[in-house]
Amino acid sequence: MDKNLAELLNDQINKEFYSAYLYLDMANFYSDKGLDGFANWYEIQAKEEQDHAMLIYQYLHNNNEKVTLKAIAKPDKTFTTLMDPLKAGLEHEQYVTSLINNIYSVATQVQDYRTVQFLDWFVKEQGEEEKNSTDLITKMELFGDDARTLYMLNSELAARVYSAPSLVL
Ligand code: FEO
Repeated sequence: MDKNLAELLNDQINKEFYSAYLYLDMANFYSDKGLDGFANWYEIQAKEEQDHAMLIYQYLHNNNEKVTLKAIAKPDKTFTTLMDPLKAGLEHEQYVTSLINNIYSVATQVQDYRTVQFLDWFVKEQGEEEKNSTDLITKMELFGDDARTLYMLNSELAARVYSAPSLVL
């Protein structure tokens, strides 16, 4: 595999684990506020991010590339309002999309079409991630100011269940 491409994929493992850590911190914030449904939603999000990291880890191993695990940064966002994590989540996903797009572009340039195919799943997944984040913001704008509707929204988010990624390597 192209050296630069392998390094970018290796770095992405770290970014995905950081995402997991960031989402766990959001779950932590909502848990402290007594909103266990929101906390559940972000705990599952954190699990999904670990899956993303492991898919890239496995892909590099499957291609005989050495993986180097690096330190995961401390979650660096401060949340005050109930909306703050939702907005930070969307911003973060837009950033991750730009990272995936960059790796995709490098894979295309070096004509590594196997990696391009592997990354197709991530490109689609980022579309879903951004949509989910945007939907949450919309729902909070609509229902967040009233205790009763916030309770219902919290109950809706409590129903989210984890499912393993659809991508098989
Ligand atoms: Fe791994 Fe939320 O993107």
